[in-house]
Amino acid sequence: MSGNDEKMRIERATRTFSAGSVVAFQDLDLCVPANQTLCIVGPSGCGKTTLLRCMAGLLTPTAGRILLDGRVVTAPSPAVAMVFQHFGLFPWKTVHENACYGLKLKGIPRSEWKARIAPYIELVGLTGFEHMYPYQLSGGMQQRTGLVRALALHPEVLLMDEPFGALDAQTRELLQEELLRILERERKTMVFITHSIDEAIVLGDHIAVISARPGRVQEIIDVGLPSSRTADDVRLSPRYTELRQHIWGGLRQQAVAAA
Ligand SMILES: Nc1ncnc2c1ncn2[C@@H]1O[C@H](COP(=O)(O)OP(=O)(O)O)[C@@H](O)[C@H]1O
Ligand SMILES: [Mg+2]
Repeated sequence: MSGNDEKMRIERATRTFSAGSVVAFQDLDLCVPANQTLCIVGPSGCGKTTLLRCMAGLLTPTAGRILLDGRVVTAPSPAVAMVFQHFGLFPWKTVHENACYGLKLKGIPRSEWKARIAPYIELVGLTGFEHMYPYQLSGGMQQRTGLVRALALHPEVLLMDEPFGALDAQTRELLQEELLRILERERKTMVFITHSIDEAIVLGDHIAVISARPGRVQEIIDVGLPSSRTADDVRLSPRYTELRQHIWGGLRQQAVAAA
């Protein structure tokens, strides 16, 4: 996980809140290789969302630094797009308008919006739903809209904060499969936060296990399965069972302690 093909790097990063009384994460070192997926798993409150917000340039670390292409992140970059757990859609905007929102913020001319989002609308199966409002859609379709909004920006890095966490189990598996297909077509660097060990193994090239708050890197696991894969390939492999047991063994203590 080093060398020239490193897209992002987190160096001894710490973030505190409330004048230092809450330490979200501490002394984190992580590397995100280009065109690969790093999944981050860890108990609630260990600073995962805070870390992702720092990586997106929405917050700054209290100590240490975060690098994108070797440069310190100080503000949001056009190369980076984020997908949120609770979809982050505007209820008063249609699928089309929500999907175009990032393009609007980026100053892309309105005349180009439709052509920019159309391939992604099709890719995630939202064709025909463009004029519906979020309340008319299932959770899965709402998050597909969130994905289209991010992908239409043509980001180099996708930051995903438990994007499928609010979905039912079957919808979640469908979206994991869709995401693997999308990554097959468009090379992206992805940081994917999840509570689910299953999801981390299905999607990740590497998995960083973070300890309970203050979050520290407990272990970095090389998943060691081909990047080009289906969810079934992964779940049916002996490596899947082995990793699942291994990661749960580590997290179990944390979960028990947290409870
Ligand atoms: N803006 C904030 N102000 C104060 N405390 C915060 C803020 N954001 C997060 N925290 C605290 O930081 C810790 C980590 O939060 P978070 O990053 O959301 O964890 P996770 O996403 O892993 O569940 C929590 O204790 C949370 O209450
Ligand atoms: Mg969170």
